[in-house]
Amino acid sequence: MTKNELPIFQLIYTSTLDTDVPGNLRNILDSSMRNNQRNGITGVFLYSDGNVMQVLEGQKDSVLRTFSVIKSDVRHTNIFVLLQQDVARRQFASWSMGFANLTKDALNEFPTVADVFGSHQDASTTQRRAKSALAILNSFAEGAIPIG
Ligand SMILES: Cc1cc2nc3c(=O)[nH]c(=O)nc-3n(C[C@H](O)[C@H](O)[C@H](O)COP(=O)(O)O)c2cc1C
Repeated sequence: MTKNELPIFQLIYTSTLDTDVPGNLRNILDSSMRNNQRNGITGVFLYSDGNVMQVLEGQKDSVLRTFSVIKSDVRHTNIFVLLQQDVARRQFASWSMGFANLTKDALNEFPTVADVFGSHQDASTTQRRAKSALAILNSFAEGAIPIG
């Protein structure tokens, strides 16, 4: 468990993973868990059919430093920040990086999820997608989305 120190900064982004290279996802998750633990970062990595939504939370400088490394990673493209904000507490305090693969069933059950992921990203839809992302994360934190 990471200490729930203040202030906590949360960053949510989406991207599209290069799925041509086998093992990419596994390797990314392995280094995320290892590095995030060291850097006091917690969060969740949601994956759906090649698309990623990731939440990073922790001290602002640590989150921004990690995100700048992630941004320059060639294993994904189409990186789009949905939300950056200070929050009262960590939402995923016990996970160095939680993971869920959202199946087609999950997407059907939660139509807003499909809206958050995907490659048709532009600034005019950011606010709507950020709202959906927060709703999904709340459901996920409460265990409402099946891990498939
Ligand atoms: C979609 C995506 C998410 C990532 N998330 C994290 C993360 O949460 N923490 C992290 O340290 N590295 C993350 N990475 C990996 C970093 O870009 C980088 O490869 C890694 O931190 C390098 O550390 P290593 O040499 O220990 O593997 C992510 C990469 C991708 C493509």
